[in-house]
Amino acid sequence: MKISNVIAQEILDSRGDPTVECTVILENGIKASSMVPSGVSIGTYEAVELRDGDEDRYLGRGVLKAVENVNKKIASVVVGMDVEAQEEIDQAMIALDGTENKSNLGANAILSVSMACVRVAALSKGIPMYEYVAGMFGNSTEEYEMPVPMINVLNGGKHAPGASDIQEYMFMPIGAKNIEEAVRWGSECFDHLGYILKEMGYRTTVGDEGGYSPSLGSNEEPLELMVEAIKKAGLKPGKDISLAIDAAANEFYVDGKYVLKAGGKTLGREELCDMYIKWTEKYPLMLIEDGFAEDDWEGFKLLEEKLGEEIMNVGDDLYVTNIKRLEKGIKMETTNSILIKLNQIGTVTETIGVIKRAEEVGMRSIVSHRSGDTEDTFIADFVVGAGTGFIKAGSMNRSERVGKYNRLVKIERELN
Ligand code: PGA
Ligand code: ZN
Repeated sequence: MKISNVIAQEILDSRGDPTVECTVILENGIKASSMVPSGVSIGTYEAVELRDGDEDRYLGRGVLKAVENVNKKIASVVVGMDVEAQEEIDQAMIALDGTENKSNLGANAILSVSMACVRVAALSKGIPMYEYVAGMFGNSTEEYEMPVPMINVLNGGKHAPGASDIQEYMFMPIGAKNIEEAVRWGSECFDHLGYILKEMGYRTTVGDEGGYSPSLGSNEEPLELMVEAIKKAGLKPGKDISLAIDAAANEFYVDGKYVLKAGGKTLGREELCDMYIKWTEKYPLMLIEDGFAEDDWEGFKLLEEKLGEEIMNVGDDLYVTNIKRLEKGIKMETTNSILIKLNQIGTVTETIGVIKRAEEVGMRSIVSHRSGDTEDTFIADFVVGAGTGFIKAGSMNRSERVGKYNRLVKIERELN
């Protein structure tokens, strides 16, 4: 079915910052929309999110230029194209942009169209989006793998200034029999953790991704409290639920050193690696994301050599869902896993390419939200179709986070 129009508009994300929503309309009258998320602990090598810079509107964070780029420039090339020709559509937008990092049209403009095409194509075919995505990957549409969620219950770093240096502490319900149980366990443990913090006299206000944001004075204590919360919920740490962290180490990398404010330590690459090793020995920590800064390939490699057999060593800002950076990582054997964020690269086609390449070499992919997200549940359907087995969607709190979990549970019920 051919595209008859694409219409973008400026809406707000979960932080109240402007972002782009795009509606794609087909010649049969069917239409669907998608909303682009936005990060704050952004990797240097991410595709460019176009902001107006006009200080009179939203402190310069407006996206009217990106909106206009969709409505005029992108519309002029994609209208009339077959909506199912995702690769051609994405390539046409990449060519129209003409830059390496999509700074001309903006990755937010391009991605809004790319995602909306997937949604409307599925709708037009009368199939669920996850099934359409499975087709794009060449995956089975008979059997689906539901993902293990990474539930971010303690926020720090740029997502909760004043809390821990480590940006995210997550529950991974690896022992749950299905997504419904994983979500329930996550919710129960989140509540227990809240009661524990309250009893200790800490605040239980939440950060950008819905996790609590206490100032505990140490980066290790959260792990202890999380184990306690798992036990309080009547579950077994390490068997039912394991732990994960996203250090987002870029944010505390200063002049070649890792500066941890909570606890007052400045560590070198090896010392930081030793800290992680110690944590994996003491706690059921099964995943470390961005344990090192985005250009500290040697740091990731060191962790991979020491713990690659035992834990998921994940690159986020390291790879920024970019095939060139992934190829470098494969060559150097830097990590065994990669975080996937559609807006880091800016098209669905390139995102699929990265996931497929990672799979080819046995690396695991985690499909992820952003800290500024929206009510769009795109990634829930996307991860089920992609079948990567892991999703990072924030806490059991705040609708832009819980919406993804709700959608996953509904997909699971539909499939059963
Ligand atoms: P961001 O954080 O969306 O603010 O970049 C998420 C992450 O680092 O995984
Ligand atoms: Zn990250």
